[in-house]
Amino acid sequence: MATEIRQTMSGEEMVALSRKHTLFEWSAQSKVDPIPVARAKGIYFWTPEGKRFIDFNSQLMCVNIGHGDERVIRAIQEQVAVLAYANPFMATEVRARLGAKLAEIAPGDIDVFFFTNGGADANENAIRLARLATGRHKILARYRSYHGGTAGSLSLTGDPRRWSVEPGLPGVVHVLDPYHGLARGWESAEQSLAMLEEVIQLEGPQTIAAFILESVTGTNGVLVPPDGYMQGVRALCDRYGILMICDEVMAGFGRTGEWFAIDHWKVVPDIITMAKGLTSAYVQLGAVGMRRAIADRFQDKVFYGGLTYNSHPLACAAALATLQVYEDDGLIENARRMGRVMKELHEDLARRHPSVGATRSIGLFGLIELVRDRAKKTPIAPFNGTSEEMTALSRFFRQEGLYTFLRWHTFFTNPPLCITEAQMREAFEIIDRGLEITDRAVDG
Ligand SMILES: Cc1ncc(COP(=O)(O)O)c(C=O)c1O
Repeated sequence: MATEIRQTMSGEEMVALSRKHTLFEWSAQSKVDPIPVARAKGIYFWTPEGKRFIDFNSQLMCVNIGHGDERVIRAIQEQVAVLAYANPFMATEVRARLGAKLAEIAPGDIDVFFFTNGGADANENAIRLARLATGRHKILARYRSYHGGTAGSLSLTGDPRRWSVEPGLPGVVHVLDPYHGLARGWESAEQSLAMLEEVIQLEGPQTIAAFILESVTGTNGVLVPPDGYMQGVRALCDRYGILMICDEVMAGFGRTGEWFAIDHWKVVPDIITMAKGLTSAYVQLGAVGMRRAIADRFQDKVFYGGLTYNSHPLACAAALATLQVYEDDGLIENARRMGRVMKELHEDLARRHPSVGATRSIGLFGLIELVRDRAKKTPIAPFNGTSEEMTALSRFFRQEGLYTFLRWHTFFTNPPLCITEAQMREAFEIIDRGLEITDRAVDG
């Protein structure tokens, strides 16, 4: 049964009132220009006036199954009618079933889960678990990373969003990634691991509880690690008794063409964090998964952590239904199949557009880096900044009804995993025309 939601505001009114009474994140408020959204279905969403957008970023890389799936809506409706909430000291059927289901799909012997409200608090609890389990306090993290907007998670974050909370959480040490930006490019897994081991030794391995890293780095560039890197990190962690925490908040749940991105390298982390695609954002939910040996440490010892909405029944019901959709519709296979199409479309753009400096993708996790000088690989916008050309490209996408995420000199291609080839080509046709704007900025 479709429920009518009374929508009385125009897009303009929604924007004006939202801007007046609510704060938009990561922005100077005078600069925000939100798209008013009234409804969404599949890979599309619409403004109140009926302008259609292709959602080429799955909103915030989270609506993996696509918008408005009736099966998930029904599961939420049924759950809210029976039990909207039970406090986290209680057991519920949806909590029990979700824990068991995640144990089935999570890598290796990860089979115990702590539920949170989202990704940031999943990472907060992951590092707390690691500190309690090891009795050590330092946490290694990487510079090109984002781990969430709370105090601890922002301290772990390596990108400029961290600067606002500094000095931040004591004991967080950042290391370099195998990727060093467009001009310097990639180093080998061996070089990067040697640097990591040097940092471990200089910091004192006996002081380091965990190394947290995104299995495939998200907002900092869809960075797919070179083969051997993840296996090497696993080996170093084992050698020094450091727990390996994989942040799969963005890369998990089929985005890369596997349930979890780390599955590409057949590595089992000690702790894995997830959110976003877990419910495809129909209801907010995050989780920390851990190997049995870590969970066992808390059989007699207290786990100091809690949230009022831990294991929220609506969220658990949404997650169970979402996981069923991935399986019933073969969405992970589709991500792999459409990922191959997307890679070809990326390569085609790189061949024809001088402003395309690099393209990267794995499954339906994709990014394009734009340059104003191909030989020197000068980004078209500075680190942590924007440029006239990127602003013009953003304006063009919006005018043409393509929504995606633009950051510095890059933009993302992260559609819902239910996308068809025809829809993919429709989106790339708009991108193709948009890149004529950035091509005009290329020197020579
Ligand atoms: C890799 C990664 N970790 C953590 C987070 C934080 O998740 P949340 O915004 O749900 O707190 C994000 C959000 O984008 C993310 O991409």
